Formats: sequence, C-alpha cells, structure tokens
Amino acid sequence: MSHTYLRSTSMTNTRTNLHDAGIQFRADLDFVRYAGCWEDADILIEAIRPGPGKRVLSIASAGDNSLALLATGAEVVAADLNVAQLACLELRVAAFRHLQHDHLLAFLGIHDSDQRLATYALLEPDLSDSAREFWRTRRAEVSQGIIHIGKFEKYFQIFRRRVLPWIHSRRTLMELFEPKSQAERVQFWNNTWNNRRWRMLLRLFFSRFLMARMGRDPEFFRYVNGPISDQIQQRACYAMTVLPTDQNPYLQYIATGNYQSALPRYLRAEHHDAIRSGLDRLTLFHGPIEEAAAKHGVGGFDGFNLSDIFEYVSEEQASAMYGALLQHANTGAGIAYWNTFVPRSCPRELADNVVPATQLAAELFAQDKAFFYGHFQIDQVK
Ligand SMILES: C[S@@+](CC[C@H](N)C(=O)[O-])C[C@H]1O[C@@H](n2cnc3c(N)ncnc32)[C@H](O)[C@@H]1O
Repeated sequence: MSHTYLRSTSMTNTRTNLHDAGIQFRADLDFVRYAGCWEDADILIEAIRPGPGKRVLSIASAGDNSLALLATGAEVVAADLNVAQLACLELRVAAFRHLQHDHLLAFLGIHDSDQRLATYALLEPDLSDSAREFWRTRRAEVSQGIIHIGKFEKYFQIFRRRVLPWIHSRRTLMELFEPKSQAERVQFWNNTWNNRRWRMLLRLFFSRFLMARMGRDPEFFRYVNGPISDQIQQRACYAMTVLPTDQNPYLQYIATGNYQSALPRYLRAEHHDAIRSGLDRLTLFHGPIEEAAAKHGVGGFDGFNLSDIFEYVSEEQASAMYGALLQHANTGAGIAYWNTFVPRSCPRELADNVVPATQLAAELFAQDKAFFYGHFQIDQVK
C-alpha cells in the first residue's frame, strides 16, 4: 500500500454555505464519521463479482468493504474525501499485516483488551506521517477500540444507552439475537418487540432532525424530502423478522454496542489470510472518487463500490460524477450503490451506457443486513 495518496488537507477543514458546492465543501470532513462501514459487503461482492485480475474502485469509509473486496483477489483503489477515514483504513491495514485474527479483533475493539496502546506502538511504524499525526492526538480512541469512535457509532451509542433501556430490558434485547425460525421472529416482533414505546421513540430518535444533527450531518439531508422514520421502522421490522437476527452484525452493533454472534465480512476468520496477502493490491486516494478514477484509471475498473455518495449531492452533480466514473469503466463493470432516502440512479442522459441489473439488485437488497437503506442499485456497463 502506498503512502503517497495525500493531498493538501486545507479543504478538509472547510465548511461554507455554498449550496451548489460539492459535499466536501459543505460538511466538516476532519474527524471520523464512520468507524465502520455501514454497508453490507456480502451483497456488494455478489453485486460486482470481483476476483483476481479485476480492478475495483471503492469508497473507503472506515475501510471494511475495501478490505473485503481485496479478499477476493481483486486490485482495489479506495478513495475518500475525508482524510480521517483514510487514517482508519491505514490503521486497519497495519493491523491486518501484523496481527493474528484474535489479536486483530481485540485491537479493533470487538474483543476486550487493555493492550491496545501497546499494539498501536507496534503498528505505528507502518503508518504514513499524516495517519501517525492523526492518531497521535487520539490515544484515547485507540485504547477504546477504533471501531467505536465514529460520530455515526456514537449516535447509535446514545440510542442504546439512553433510549433502548426505556423500551426493552437487557433480557429482551439478548432474546432478539437468539437463533429463531422466521415464524418465531415474527411472533417475537408482534408479541414482544414492536410495542408503543418502541414505535414512538424510534420515530423521535431517527427523525430527520436528530439524525442530521447527531448522526450524520445536516448537509447530508439537503436532498431528502419527507419523513424518514417510517422507512426506518419498516426496514427495522424487515431486519428483525425476515432476516436472521443472529447473523446480522449491523443490527447487533446498533442494539448492543458491539458485534455478537456475527461479524462483518472483512472480520470473519475465513477472509483474514486473503486480506493480509492482498494488502499490496490496495491503493489509497484522498479526494473525490472521480479524481481517483482519473488518476488510477489506466486499465479501467471492473467494479465500483459507491456507497450512497450520490444522495448527498444535487442531481446535476450526481450526473457529472456518474459520467466521470463511466469514462473509466470497463465493459461489463458493475456499478453498485445504495440510496438511503433520496432516489438516485443512472442519469437519464447516460442511460444508454448501462443496463440496470434490476432483478439481481432486488434479490440482494432483500438480503441486505445493513437494513436502513431504501434501495440498492447495480448498473452493468455495456
Ligand atoms: C457516502 S458516506 C456514507 C456512509 C453511510 N452509508 C451512511 O449512510 O451514512 C461514506 C464515505 O464516503 C465518503 N465520500 C462521500 N462522497 C464522496 C466522494 N464524492 N468522493 C470520495 N469520497 C466520498 C465520505 O467521506 C464517507 O467517508
């Protein structure tokens, strides 16, 4: 992995009110927003089917899904506007390079450990100057476990500590994650979980107002119309009844503050060695994803993991970004992205270049364990 991905960080500290500016100019981007990737890598990999000899362009976020992509044998370029997110990915890379699986889980914060700072000292020489500087002032976060330190995770922490105890006892909470048949899950939802307090507090806590201020950023909701809590309630019901709760790391993290019986793909033991041996196929890029595509576009890309980046920008900006990415897409490339609250798909003027894999996307969305998205889209490049 190269350490030469950094650009000037002056833009990362900027916040202006330029309505038409890109998201990098409208939201604060100098702290960890996402300490984990809140998108399900299992469906991402089925969507774009990466493998040896393939090149994938991926939003970095905390790095989880870029590492999961590496495990398939693909070459991965991971880009992010936020240098703090890239520091998270760099530290994960160092941890994968040096730590055995159990030790990795302890260092990242899944298992208990009082040795994280000592482990960090071992990993630090692997980091770029910028990542080292970033973590230098965040020793407390390192010793807490870096999967817990994002603004988004802290929002869920507040829900778990201050709201959930008013709704359900610890026993009911743990019962949620016991293995059950689908019929038993429906019964549990109807008879135990979905009470009036749950409905009322969920509506309040996952309102646009609180979510924008405490979880994401008000700017991320600029293009969202209408209430969002109804969708969250519907999707929560789906995740707790249709999908097996004992296999859902995202639901477990939100409700209990850590992964329990399930781990996200990059942390499962079976992928550990493949990720470690693939680390040299990973390139980091600091800046807009379309610039990453242009800079590392030689050979083109066979797959794109675009998170839900299109819904933070206007339709015109989404269209320009999509068009710029298409220029570096190989024939047959899969372009995968989520929408949470804003419907975004291939811009009409570019529609002749792709075929939406509607059936596959719907099937995968039905299995999406990161349950709060409204839509999953896969476009296949002609
Ligand atoms: C799009 S956010 C979404 C996270 C999560 N899915 C959610 O719903 O809140 C994930 C990452 O994308 C990065 N990002 C957003 N737009 C980007 C762009 N145009 N180019 C590069 N990175 C971008 C953000 O900095 C962040 O770390």
